[in-house]
Amino acid sequence: MQPPCETVRIGRAVRVPVHCEAARQRLKPVGKLITELLMSAPLRLGIAGLGTVGTGVIRLIQTEAALIAARAGRAVEVTGVSARDRKKARDVDLSPYAWEDDPVTLARRDDVDVFVELMGGDAGPAKAATEAAIAAGKDVVTANKALLAHHGQALALAAEAGGRSIRFEAAVAGGIPVIKVLTEGLAANRIRRVMGVMNGTCNYILTRMESAGLPYDAVFEEARKLGYLEADPNLDVGGIDAGHKLSLLAAIAFGTKVSFDAVELEGIGRIAIEDIRSAADMGYRIKLLGVAQMTGRGLEQRMSPCLVPSDSPLGQLQGGTNMVVIEGEAVGQIVLRGAGAGEGPTASAVMGDVIDLARGIRIPVFGQPAALLSDAVAATVAAPAPFYLRMRLQDKPGALAKVATVLGEAGVSIDRMRQRAHDEGSAPVLIVTHRCTRDALDHALSRMPETGVVVGDPVAIRIEAV
Ligand code: NAP
Ligand code: HSE
Repeated sequence: MQPPCETVRIGRAVRVPVHCEAARQRLKPVGKLITELLMSAPLRLGIAGLGTVGTGVIRLIQTEAALIAARAGRAVEVTGVSARDRKKARDVDLSPYAWEDDPVTLARRDDVDVFVELMGGDAGPAKAATEAAIAAGKDVVTANKALLAHHGQALALAAEAGGRSIRFEAAVAGGIPVIKVLTEGLAANRIRRVMGVMNGTCNYILTRMESAGLPYDAVFEEARKLGYLEADPNLDVGGIDAGHKLSLLAAIAFGTKVSFDAVELEGIGRIAIEDIRSAADMGYRIKLLGVAQMTGRGLEQRMSPCLVPSDSPLGQLQGGTNMVVIEGEAVGQIVLRGAGAGEGPTASAVMGDVIDLARGIRIPVFGQPAALLSDAVAATVAAPAPFYLRMRLQDKPGALAKVATVLGEAGVSIDRMRQRAHDEGSAPVLIVTHRCTRDALDHALSRMPETGVVVGDPVAIRIEAV
């Protein structure tokens, strides 16, 4: 429990709350310098949502008040907070702040300059309070990818019409400042491709399956017990959470309206330990990989399990860590790696946005005015790629030849093939194809029952060049 809030007066009207003696002592000697720097009014935050991210933001503001004020050029202070349950113990001192039961009321308060939405959800109070904040002329900082993936264009138009901004660094890849990199550092680049591992829970499950040799269901249960899974686990393992993030990056990268509905989504639920082992044998790892690229056929957005070379940066990524790879015409390839979730990393991202607003930096929500973003024409066919195939074949003369014939007739050529020893009358066969379209492959797979030698459903996973 924090001691009662003390404040140090800075400048004319600025009071920086100081919650620990160490911080107070650090602040005292520089107080005069900061006083000279900080003649402007503080930036006042209303924070809705006091869970992992919200309490993390408050803790960071309380422990780093002086550092934040020095870097922002003015103090940043919390004036009001909101959550569902006022009585819940939260391990941060909320006594200096006004409490609002209704986040919409918080968003409209006169003493709130920036509404910080950390509740989550693509509708309900998150949407209502964000809209209310924008209507009341406030800037918004949010960690809510679901809200922006579904309503980003409408919210951005409304904010920009009023000269306000919505910042969402924490919504994509947690502590990795990828939104800043795309909207600012790489602003002069025509982006060729954005890809990455953007759901730490899925990466934890896949890497743990490999390291512990455990099946999917066992590791899923482990992740649940560790508290890694969202309340609706399908948001994680179904690829939806990562798909939300990819759609936001694609909007910035390609100047298109957010089009989450056009993201081709496939989760990790069908990945078997045999696939993890077989991929490893062939020099690959399986990742839930997001890829967005503008092709001659339109905007391709995919979030699906892919094989990537084990020795590539993406292949090396372990546990809950995220990685985003950006390829720009001028800059070449940039690789960003870091914690994709958790209190500290997300609070870091939220406060980066807040400090920008305190400095008076306001850039369009998706890097260019929302009114100029074009409609995303979705590519109906993904770019061709090699595929990994695993199937079980009966121990019959000519079985492999029959499979090869069906693949060949669909225009799918075999690059490599491996067959393991037979057990109980059938054998696992692994095939790596040359580049082909998913349509051609699906056509071939739909004809496999005709061969009379394939047992069960074949598994097909794209191999991504990274
Ligand atoms: P959380 O721990 O579940 O906290 C959610 C907070 O919102 C709680 O304080 C809850 O109140 C409050 N809340 C929920 N519904 C509300 C309502 N109807 N009215 C008022 N308050 C309400 O969630 P979180 O992990 O902090 O995530 C918050 C946001 O950050 C989400 O959009 C999430 O996707 C995003 N995000 C999270 C992480 C992460 O590592 N956790 C990383 C990146 C982005 P009570 O506490 O009273 O129940
Ligand atoms: N469920 C998300 C993840 C949390 O596992 O990455 C942050 O968005």
